[in-house]
Amino acid sequence: GRTRHYKFNVQLHNVARLCKTKTILTVNGKFPGPRIVAREGDRVVVKVVNSAPNNVSIHWHGVRQLLSGWADGPAYVTQCPIQSGQSYVYNFTIIGQRGTLWWHAHISWLRATIYGPIIILPIQNTSYPFPKPHKEVPIIFGEWWNADTEAVINQALQTGGGPNVSDAYTINGLPGPSYNCSANGTKNLQAESETGKTYLIRLINAALNDDLFFRISNHTLTVVEADAVYVKPFETDIVLIAPGQTTNVLLKTKPNPTNSTFLMAARPYFTGQGTFDNSTVVAILEYEKRHISTSSSITGLHIPTLPPINATSFVANFSNRFRSLASARFPANVPETVDKKFFFTVGLGSNPCPKNATCQGPNGTKFAASVNNISFTNPTTAILQSYFFNQSNGVYTTDFPSAPLVPFNYTGTPPNNTRVANGTKAVVLPFNTTVEVVLQDTSILGAESHPLHLHGYNFFVVGQGFGNFDPKKDPPNFNLADPVERNTIGVPSGGWAAIRFRADNPGVWMMHCHFEVHFSWGLRMAWIVLDGKMPNQKLPPPPLDLPKC
Ligand code: C2O
Repeated sequence: GRTRHYKFNVQLHNVARLCKTKTILTVNGKFPGPRIVAREGDRVVVKVVNSAPNNVSIHWHGVRQLLSGWADGPAYVTQCPIQSGQSYVYNFTIIGQRGTLWWHAHISWLRATIYGPIIILPIQNTSYPFPKPHKEVPIIFGEWWNADTEAVINQALQTGGGPNVSDAYTINGLPGPSYNCSANGTKNLQAESETGKTYLIRLINAALNDDLFFRISNHTLTVVEADAVYVKPFETDIVLIAPGQTTNVLLKTKPNPTNSTFLMAARPYFTGQGTFDNSTVVAILEYEKRHISTSSSITGLHIPTLPPINATSFVANFSNRFRSLASARFPANVPETVDKKFFFTVGLGSNPCPKNATCQGPNGTKFAASVNNISFTNPTTAILQSYFFNQSNGVYTTDFPSAPLVPFNYTGTPPNNTRVANGTKAVVLPFNTTVEVVLQDTSILGAESHPLHLHGYNFFVVGQGFGNFDPKKDPPNFNLADPVERNTIGVPSGGWAAIRFRADNPGVWMMHCHFEVHFSWGLRMAWIVLDGKMPNQKLPPPPLDLPKC
């Protein structure tokens, strides 16, 4: 492979959205940020220069980072943040992956505006396992706040309540043509295509807190890839995409259309309690060589119908349709036996309100979220650094529980006590351990879907279901033949998902809910994967420019 060099200058930039001008953090003044394009096997070297006032770190979401854990990016896990005026070079090779991934800031809520696509082309002279597309179009969903997102989350953490919800969803950074108060709102031609051709659309959900339904009117989509892994192709009119997930779909444009413009739309799937941004974002698919120039020419076009906000059975059926190709060229290497089993509850809870404060969480407490009742707190230095240099002293502990200390009826009547414990705890895994994790949603403060993301690995989703996981009845039904392989799975609301992976990548790897509000409330934990015996099974020392805390 070759080496691809990028320079990311994190800087403030003014943009106009929803009829207001706002100063946001961007990479190179672009929103959404620049694309990274590489081939499988290429080395990617990104020099990130922080010219903004905030601390920053960048995560290459879904890139496996084989033996390059220092480049993974989550602040206080693999690195200290890049401070204002400093820089850090992320250096990694893309091994065994091809498709769509993305990058985003991994500190506080900066990923609201610091994100962009990663496009991984197949190795030169190899083809896709589907018809060669005429063109490729990324579509990246986001969430827009008129307020400063740092202020939104900081206020929520101080008052213990839920953060203010966003003001709009965006498609490729734009809130859609219904906002005709600025140049950014009127022309929103997201995809231009010729008639009678096949297009590869790379869908990325970069929204902070919402799963999204997506549909293009009058067109059926063929799903061919999820999280940079090919899947058995299947047709659907509607796609559900969770934050963190990427989905590649094929779109066939009509050979003799009577219309040249069509609307696409996205809106949330939401199962939690409380408020959320219940808006729809619309964008235009326009066939080439025919033009519309003003927002008025789209009036009369049909906004595609999307499922109801809480369409959990649609989501479960859709999620179940994803299968690995499991072909000779792209086998599914599912661990058939398991060395270590874990049972993790994922859900909401509460922390006591600090003295002299008034808290807006449940019963006057602060909202929290946890895995096995442990709400993750940021250490003062990066876990990977302290682990690598044997300085774990007080930074983290390795006693993360492999199952809830007190089992309860997870999805039935919840226990009265909603309290969580705080801590910076990790699980230590010897190199090459095969791992099974059952992720169980809880109804402690209401059942809710949780997009769980694992750093440093893909995992196989061997099972999912509603209610409490049954350790006797459910495992015999696990799919070990062609389960989907991905890095982010929506744990069903009021249900569970079982994943398997082989711990063959030494380092410190975070697993967390990709709803940013749950992340901030502590729904995260860390795996420490030890070095193997062979030289090519050991994490090399950090680069010299690794930021210091
Ligand atoms: Cu896309 Cu830890 O995140």
